Amino acid sequence: MKNKLIFLFVLSIIGCTTAQKTTKSAITIKNIHPVDSLLALMTTEEKIGQMTLFTSDWESTGPTMRDTYKADIRAGKVGAIFNAHTAAYTRSLQKMAVEETRLGIPLLFGYDVIHGYRTIFPISLGEAASWDLAAIQQAARIGAIEASAAGLHWTFAPMVDIARDPRWGRISEGAGEDTYLGNAVAGARVKGFQGANLTDNNTILACAKHFAAYGAAQAGRDYNTVDISDRTLREIYLPPFKAAIDAGVRTFMTSFNELNGIPATGNKYLLKDILRDEWKFDGMVVTDYTSINEMVEHGNVANEKEAGELALKSGVDMDMQGAVYYKYLKKSLAEGKVTIQEINQAARNVLMMKYELGLFDDPYKYSNVTREKELVFAEAHRKFARRLAQKSIVLLKNKKGILPLPQKSKKKVAVIGPLADSQKDMLGSWSASGHAEDCVTLKKGLQEAGSDLIFSFAKGCNIYDGDQSGFAEAKKMANDADYIILSLGENRGMSGEAASRSNIGLPGHQLELAKMCKKTGKPMIVVLSNGRPLAIPWIAENADAIVETWFLGTEAGHAMADVLLGKYNPSGKLPVTFPRNVGQVPIFYNAKHTGRPFDAKNKYTSKYLDVPNTPLYPFGYGLSYTSFDYGKITTDKRRFTQSDSINISVIIKNTGDYDGTETVQLYIHDLVGSVTRPVKELKGFQQVKIKKGAYKTVTFTLTKEDFMFYDKNMKWTIEPGKFDIYVGTNSSAKDKVTITYF
Ligand code: GLC
Repeated sequence: MKNKLIFLFVLSIIGCTTAQKTTKSAITIKNIHPVDSLLALMTTEEKIGQMTLFTSDWESTGPTMRDTYKADIRAGKVGAIFNAHTAAYTRSLQKMAVEETRLGIPLLFGYDVIHGYRTIFPISLGEAASWDLAAIQQAARIGAIEASAAGLHWTFAPMVDIARDPRWGRISEGAGEDTYLGNAVAGARVKGFQGANLTDNNTILACAKHFAAYGAAQAGRDYNTVDISDRTLREIYLPPFKAAIDAGVRTFMTSFNELNGIPATGNKYLLKDILRDEWKFDGMVVTDYTSINEMVEHGNVANEKEAGELALKSGVDMDMQGAVYYKYLKKSLAEGKVTIQEINQAARNVLMMKYELGLFDDPYKYSNVTREKELVFAEAHRKFARRLAQKSIVLLKNKKGILPLPQKSKKKVAVIGPLADSQKDMLGSWSASGHAEDCVTLKKGLQEAGSDLIFSFAKGCNIYDGDQSGFAEAKKMANDADYIILSLGENRGMSGEAASRSNIGLPGHQLELAKMCKKTGKPMIVVLSNGRPLAIPWIAENADAIVETWFLGTEAGHAMADVLLGKYNPSGKLPVTFPRNVGQVPIFYNAKHTGRPFDAKNKYTSKYLDVPNTPLYPFGYGLSYTSFDYGKITTDKRRFTQSDSINISVIIKNTGDYDGTETVQLYIHDLVGSVTRPVKELKGFQQVKIKKGAYKTVTFTLTKEDFMFYDKNMKWTIEPGKFDIYVGTNSSAKDKVTITYF
């Protein structure tokens, strides 16, 4: 005990000087990094222990649980624990590691702090709908402040998987279908979680997941096969991971899926050739939940021991919950199937994370009950959550300006639907330590809004069962009202992990409820709460207004009421296409032209017989209570060379009755390439606040980088030729200028 404390004291002195001066390339004594000094003292078992991650028994986020994790900690066989939080609990577990093991190496504590720890923000897809990078970063910052105050060192976020298939439940966890927006959001979230200096005790390690192309699962069925071209992988799915690295992300998580025949968790092309050799990533790679073991199910290895050997040799540093390294790696080493160098490198990558956090200086620095009481669920955090929730709301329809409601009138408003008062569903999936009872529902938000309106509430039906016993009460209430607000959508469990849907319409009898309300002839406003794009053609046709609210988190109802009553003019834009029906899927804006683009006058063109090719609502779409008029697009040059930058400008006038925020989007179309190019690609967006009657000039500066792509030889390049540049309010923009690169 005395030796160990002396050792730690020495290490902490070294650690303290180096951690204060630098985090990655430490100033060392005798040219040996302190982590290497520690590594030299460790046995093989202790090294393998550092490469092992187990869940606590506080909650289950996967198919297996173990009840021996405390004994494993005491035996020095675990390097990190996830799903354990609060200052007191993490301190108790840390004490076991620091005081009861031979070397006293601190544990890492990880958790899925995806959109908040206790103060819950909109689900990630909802945050992305704000297109407000500073706000998205601040939400991650607050998540880190609360999580670190609760003893956590590491979040398994951001999820940066591009998703083009709304059947896939995990579309709710990312930033939607577009790579450019996905890159920007990935960077903002990493910076928010990791802050300016990882040794600060309110910063946590971020984790870019799920590497890679998990969102391309065939048929939108979770965990399903991914088989895509290297071009699609590199142009669409990989860039947000690289953006996370450029923002300084320190950990990666491998995905469950196979990629082109090889599971990501044993995929050297991904984990070594791209991640380490091309991108020079020097952080730590953890698997997803038992994804090493699952390679046996995939069928690329015969047993778990072989799976462990393949994972290590492919570049996996830490085994989440699989206990494969824990059970077999020492034997694999003895048999020469893996090398001690491979084990040393993996263990070192894990130890470096602890070093960069300053845990060797003070293993208990995050487990502080006083900070926890002061910071978790702070009023300022909830205030910000309301602000971001407002920004995440997308106005999809507002016929005859029925919204905002006349809050100073004594009109009667019937609020009907299964989501109007469902606190738990406002949390969305992956709500960490969010408490349902904290959540403000639409009902409560309207009641607390201080309007003169007279509200009545009825559930009408459940979210997905066949019970219509509430219809009669709802019908009576609707007949008696001046306005109907329908609160419809999914429950929180219908998106997120293992929650794919083959039918993406409104579940249960909600559509019947809406049709019944429509028959009353009263103005009908539909408020959607959902984790994915929904196919709602009847609602789109028959509602007078539609407000997309995703799952808005703790302050959901306040934000919804702020928008419905005009205290906040909605500014959200869709980060993902809404199809007319599931038969159109996959449908996304940056598709190819094809050789037979649709032509109504020509049978032999690309179309369906029963539905248009166009989506219900396109990527980037969102209305405002005001109206924005776009002037002519101008460019400061029609021809450019590789050293030029091009300035594209447009004047936007607020021609309506409300001050508002518009997200101006710029898309390019490379008209001719050595490989076909998408009809549009987002290459810029700017959010501008414009007072009613005023106007603003928005200018985008493009460089040759914005026009580059992988040519027919997979060379990243720009090719001479014409480009159409569109600027508009969403991806269906028509106004353009044409410029030529030569
Ligand atoms: C889950 C998820 C992953 C999460 C991990 C830990 O299976 O796929 O996103 O971070 O396990 O809970």
